[in-house]
Amino acid sequence: MPLNLPTHIAIIMDGNGRWAKAQGLPRHEGHARGVEAAEEIITAVREWKIPYLTLYAFSDENWRRPRPEIEALMSLLKAYLLSKQQKMLKNGIRFETIGDIAKLPQDIRDTIAETKEITKGGKAMTLVLALSYGARDEIVRAVRKMMDQGPLRQAQGAAGTRDQGPTAEEEFKKYLDTAEFPDPDLLIRTGGEFRLSNYLLWQAAYAELYFTPVMWPEFTPDELEKALEEFSRRERRFGKTSEQL
Ligand code: IPE
Ligand code: IPE
Ligand code: MG
Repeated sequence: MPLNLPTHIAIIMDGNGRWAKAQGLPRHEGHARGVEAAEEIITAVREWKIPYLTLYAFSDENWRRPRPEIEALMSLLKAYLLSKQQKMLKNGIRFETIGDIAKLPQDIRDTIAETKEITKGGKAMTLVLALSYGARDEIVRAVRKMMDQGPLRQAQGAAGTRDQGPTAEEEFKKYLDTAEFPDPDLLIRTGGEFRLSNYLLWQAAYAELYFTPVMWPEFTPDELEKALEEFSRRERRFGKTSEQL
């Protein structure tokens, strides 16, 4: 049976540290294996012809981790981008980011800007990395931007008119880091925790949630297929009754 696929998958790539510990390895080895897992998943998502993938790579809260771990993560990120820029270009992958990247070290920001520039014409898939990302921070930054540029038009009312013109919600969305991307329809978290950890709180309002105990370094394309099969079986009602669909 053909699967009903999502347009946008968002993933919380969790469990690198616990995976490493279970193997008797240092945490940074878990992150290095996590990058390899991410690369395989990016390739698989592209092969499924799913147009958007957003990966939670570093949260606003992850700045609280020990300095050496933060440095290991930053250097993995830089090495990953530098080594994959040409492959992304060749495979039609457009690279984007969400999050407060102003907090990242300057050399990483330069590599990010360069990778975006090289891949900006990519048409096969958009890969979004959430870096120094926190949903509450994103919403507060969006409100600030909106207030700088003028408040929501009064005519649209507080909650917006749903039948005509852009609603207040649609207006607000334009100020989020994700303004250009559709909302995720499938949100996957690996690593066995049942929480969102400040990820895409606005955008995931109607996402189907999929939690798996598999640690991120072991999340293979077969595991992704299981999530896609599960997604395909879900009935998305968006407030309606089953009979109305
Ligand atoms: C996720 O793995 C990767 C990042 C947060 C960067 P963790 O590092 O959180 O791994 P666990 O949760 O400690 O196992
Ligand atoms: C969420 O994982 C962030 C990323 C996967 C980058 P964490 O491991 O940081 O989440 P908490 O702190 O356990 O909720
Ligand atoms: Mg974790």
